[in-house]
Amino acid sequence: MELMEVIRDRRAVRDFSNQPVSQSTVQDLIQAAVLAPSAMNRQPWAFAASIDRAFIESMAAHARDFLLKHFPASGPESELRSMIENPEFVLFYHAPALVLVFATSDATQDAEDCCLAAQNLMLAARDKGIGSCWIGLARPWLSQLATKEELDLKLHYRIVAPIVLGYPREWPESHGRKEPEIHWIR
Ligand SMILES: Cc1cc2nc3c(=O)[nH]c(=O)nc-3n(C[C@H](O)[C@H](O)[C@H](O)COP(=O)(O)O)c2cc1C
Repeated sequence: MELMEVIRDRRAVRDFSNQPVSQSTVQDLIQAAVLAPSAMNRQPWAFAASIDRAFIESMAAHARDFLLKHFPASGPESELRSMIENPEFVLFYHAPALVLVFATSDATQDAEDCCLAAQNLMLAARDKGIGSCWIGLARPWLSQLATKEELDLKLHYRIVAPIVLGYPREWPESHGRKEPEIHWIR
């Protein structure tokens, strides 16, 4: 696909076919991720990945349980609580693959660098016909030391982008975008 086509046609995908995503495909996507720019070219990212659907399901269940215990009942995000409480809600949407992008230190611009890597990964996925969805709601559980221990991850790594991947049953319609607010400075 042309670059602008990929950018325009990427969607958050939440409904996946049964087609698995291969390990080599995930590796290719991570290779695209690390082509992102980073502050002082520090490349402060690390990736954890799974293509084990059952394991991804079990992580989704743990993350949901954690959210049910800790998600605020009031405040700006409280409306999400009823979605999480729905017994049908599966945090990772039964995706066949999951990539977690971690910042490897807490230097000031590490999170930004990891976001750029994550966007590269999602665009490269779209180019291969693979849908992605960034699952910010998984971060509270993934930030726990106990979770990192359980997943055998370095304890000081900070989760930035949990991304599910899979072949979409269909590509969703665009949600549209607001007109950008642009201030021409001069
Ligand atoms: C930082 C961030 C966190 C997100 N967290 C979630 C999430 O927890 N669950 C979910 O279903 N979608 C999540 N999304 C996907 C957004 O809802 C989606 O990108 C947005 O609605 C725009 O739709 P589009 O990606 O199809 O253009 C997240 C996206 C971003 C960038």
